[in-house]
Amino acid sequence: MKKVTTETIRRMKTKNEIITMLTAYDYPTAEIFDEAGVDILLVGDSLGMVVLGYEDTTRVTMADMLHHVKAVSRGSKRALIVADLPFLSYHLGVYEAVRNAGRLIQEGKANAVKLEGGKEVLDQVKAIVNAGIPVMGHIGLTPQSINQLGGYYIQGKTEGEAKRLLEDAKELEKAGAFAIVLECVPMELAKMISDEISIPTIGIGAGVSCNGQVLVSHDVLGLYSRMIPKFVKQYADMRTEMQTATKAYVNEVKDKKFPAEEHSFHLSDEVIGKIYGGGE
Ligand code: KIV
Repeated sequence: MKKVTTETIRRMKTKNEIITMLTAYDYPTAEIFDEAGVDILLVGDSLGMVVLGYEDTTRVTMADMLHHVKAVSRGSKRALIVADLPFLSYHLGVYEAVRNAGRLIQEGKANAVKLEGGKEVLDQVKAIVNAGIPVMGHIGLTPQSINQLGGYYIQGKTEGEAKRLLEDAKELEKAGAFAIVLECVPMELAKMISDEISIPTIGIGAGVSCNGQVLVSHDVLGLYSRMIPKFVKQYADMRTEMQTATKAYVNEVKDKKFPAEEHSFHLSDEVIGKIYGGGE
């Protein structure tokens, strides 16, 4: 099994091979997704919402990210591991950006980092790439700016916005990004961007013309019910599966059907006799 690298991902675009990416936050799911053939495991800061129960991603810290990246990297052998730089971990300047990206690689064992934004983060992208760390861009709907955006709305619908996003994508490519996530943009714009840049685009709510697709795994598996965006396709109903299994466990324990004979260990008659008979 050959490890997926950023070079593999770049080459996939030139060979017209579609890239698959899913978020992963822990060891067992990383192992399952890796075995299922997902090309990129994204340790997304969406973990703030779907794993930690926060309202949005702005509460996620470097400590949270490192904790989960370490678990995912232990579970994955094949996939490229990309870790999100969380809110405020790269906004305070180039030094902080490189230092935090470096920690995700050195301590977390990620293979690349992702950060949100276009022109405004080019200095950080260049500095991180210059430090030898691959960077994935993320434009369109950028959830870390939720307080500025005012909601999870589709981006790039007007001529001005669409041109800005196209420009951002080109600038990110020039700055050295190896791929770009396009979140919640019209599919026509995603196609234009994908055609105009040579690095792969990975879409989430951006239509079928992107070079790859990403979704939040808790949405795909039906584990998160607070918000289900239009672009999500749920492939399983794990929430119901888990509830059914859990109720069965609770009922069997209460009815003394579990543990059964096959789950139990025995003391030999000899030892029992000695205990009750008071022998040695
Ligand atoms: O954090 C995340 O899960 C992401 C995806 C939505 C691309 O950034």
